[in-house]
Amino acid sequence: MSSALTDLCPHPIVQAPMAGGVSVPQLAAAVSEAGGLGFLAAGYKTADGVYQEIKQLRSLTARPFGVNLFMPQPEFPGASTGSTADAAPPAAGAVEVYAHQLAGEAAWYETELGDPDSGRDDGYEAKLAVLLDNPVPVVSFHFGVPSRDVLESLRRAGSLTWVTATTVEEALAVERAGADAVIVQGVEAGGHQGTHRDIQENDGCGIGLLALIAQVREAVSLPLVAAGGIMRGSQIAAVLAAGAGAAQLGTAFVATPESGAHALHKQALTNPLFVRTELTRAFSGRPARGLVNRFLREHGPYAPAAYPEVHHLTSPLRKAAAKAGDAQGMALWAGQGHRMAREFPAGQLVEVLAAELDAARAALSERGEVR
Ligand SMILES: Cc1cc2nc3c(=O)[nH]c(=O)nc-3n(C[C@H](O)[C@H](O)[C@H](O)COP(=O)(O)O)c2cc1C
Repeated sequence: MSSALTDLCPHPIVQAPMAGGVSVPQLAAAVSEAGGLGFLAAGYKTADGVYQEIKQLRSLTARPFGVNLFMPQPEFPGASTGSTADAAPPAAGAVEVYAHQLAGEAAWYETELGDPDSGRDDGYEAKLAVLLDNPVPVVSFHFGVPSRDVLESLRRAGSLTWVTATTVEEALAVERAGADAVIVQGVEAGGHQGTHRDIQENDGCGIGLLALIAQVREAVSLPLVAAGGIMRGSQIAAVLAAGAGAAQLGTAFVATPESGAHALHKQALTNPLFVRTELTRAFSGRPARGLVNRFLREHGPYAPAAYPEVHHLTSPLRKAAAKAGDAQGMALWAGQGHRMAREFPAGQLVEVLAAELDAARAALSERGEVR
């Protein structure tokens, strides 16, 4: 593990930030206490909610941890963050058409659709202000690259900055901006792809983690954190061998008792009813990987590229489905390795992964000796 990462935690294991109430302080604390790096997710929360979670996490552990922010979204989905010049607007009325197509869902769950115009910036400036006033060891970003000034001010406050990339070009943009590390996210990953520019024509072109990490390693000199489909220590050994300094796991931690995921979400990971995952825009308007259920199957094929409008639109539907105990209407975010989820307590999971990593390394060096 590169020194910038080893200083943070003894094991090269990062618990992914998971918005939607999954990566709660209890989960992050258990991971950090066990020698991994726990993360809080600021996405969808208020700035005050983020502040309260940081305070709670600090009361549970003195170990390092991270906080993840969503980048504000440009006016048109294909544009780079903060710009509208290089993209076409979405098809006029696409969100209204989708709202019309979801009317039956609203009636079924006896709720209303959400207001698609409930904000595009996820309270970014206010959350940044919280993090500058209460610096945390690591701040990571999803859906784009922050400005040089933001990265510099966080550095001055004492935080390391990590930014997600899903291609070599995005990783180069992260390096140019002056971040401290790149989170290299493969197409296997559960939840939203952290793609910088959401271009619909690129759907289906996602790159697998091992192919991507090797390419990024040759192009970029920053420390790399590998994410996507990692459920066992042997896979951590593989990404470390390919050039990563640490691995970031999401789905593996969804199943732990400390995670705040809905019980149905946890159970669905290993339920044979849910045999595969797909990238879909059905729930949020941006590609995100989830277990294929009725909602995804029915609405995924025509859901528009309109994030965060579609996220706001479907929010009451997802809440109503969860309240009704209907996993077929919930966003069951999961990576391609979901069947390998284990229900260990989070700290024990970190220890088991670390032991598996050691065993995989020992097996590799034995093979080397035989040759
Ligand atoms: C339930 C869930 C929620 C997620 N939410 C976020 C988030 O808020 N911010 C973020 O940067 N990544 C988020 N991700 C993606 C993870 O950072 C990571 O890329 C992914 O979990 C890795 O793939 P895996 O789930 O197969 O381990 C989420 C993933 C899941 C499964």
